[in-house]
Amino acid sequence: MDRIIVAGSINMDLVIETDEIPAIGETVAGKAFSTIPGGKGANQAVAIAKQGGDCIFLGKVGNDDFGANVLKSMQDAGINTDLIKIENESTGVSIINVDKTGANNIVYIAGANNLVDENYIDQNKDILDSAKYIVMQNELPEKTIEHILKICKDKKIKTILNPAPARMIEKDMLELIDILIPNEHELSRISGHKVENDEDVRKASEKLLAGGLKEIVVTLGERGVFYKNKDEEKFYDSYKAKVVDTTAAGDSFIGGFVNVLMQTNDIDKSIDFGQRVAAIAIGKVGAQTSIPTKEEVKEFDFGG
Ligand code: RIB
Repeated sequence: MDRIIVAGSINMDLVIETDEIPAIGETVAGKAFSTIPGGKGANQAVAIAKQGGDCIFLGKVGNDDFGANVLKSMQDAGINTDLIKIENESTGVSIINVDKTGANNIVYIAGANNLVDENYIDQNKDILDSAKYIVMQNELPEKTIEHILKICKDKKIKTILNPAPARMIEKDMLELIDILIPNEHELSRISGHKVENDEDVRKASEKLLAGGLKEIVVTLGERGVFYKNKDEEKFYDSYKAKVVDTTAAGDSFIGGFVNVLMQTNDIDKSIDFGQRVAAIAIGKVGAQTSIPTKEEVKEFDFGG
């Protein structure tokens, strides 16, 4: 089946644009405030659907306006949201500060995302049979991720984990992941290896592969992407692009990457396309609002 299932988080992002992100104890005047649909899971699914992928979402929102608005944004992008459950809880929320260089920091409150439990997954287990890939992130409870990984192992479905926010991954869980997609901070946390340069990226990735992981794709921001499996490894340059807001750059990459991977099984092409989607996304403010469609990617001038 050529379907991707995303089991993930759904948030409303409360975004403040400011020249400088304040230090602890400091107050600064911001420039703009907006509420923008986000959540790593929802963003990745939007990126998949906007590239034409057949995507079903497993997750939960609260019974509030934020939930209704993010659901609409996901449906508008073309995601099948039929299995998303509305709970008597608050929808997940992220407070995001974006500075004038496009860098950000994020504080996340899980809300209804924390109710995505093993029971809910079991109730929707059959739909997993229709998927070739399942994509997850760490904004869901760890036990839920572990449960999905075990089901997918039995059903022979390929698993992709974006370990954000970072937390330790036990060896028996690492062995169940087909492709891990961390950024360099997450790579450092998970591997317990410092990551300050390309050699560190290689070594930290090697450590995870030695621990049972099959493939790793490390997103390195403007430095590009690193890929490694047991036989080969490679650094890929990024596309030079205008940076307005880096929020959801990784999510855009993952959506573009997995969509092409499903169609071609070709790592070079998948990483290239993921990088194109991310390069466009960082040129606009916000998460789901910045993710380009297939046509926008086709028409964008990447130079060269
Ligand atoms: O990756 C970006 C996302 O992280 C934001 O949309 C925010 O909701 C946080 O989950």
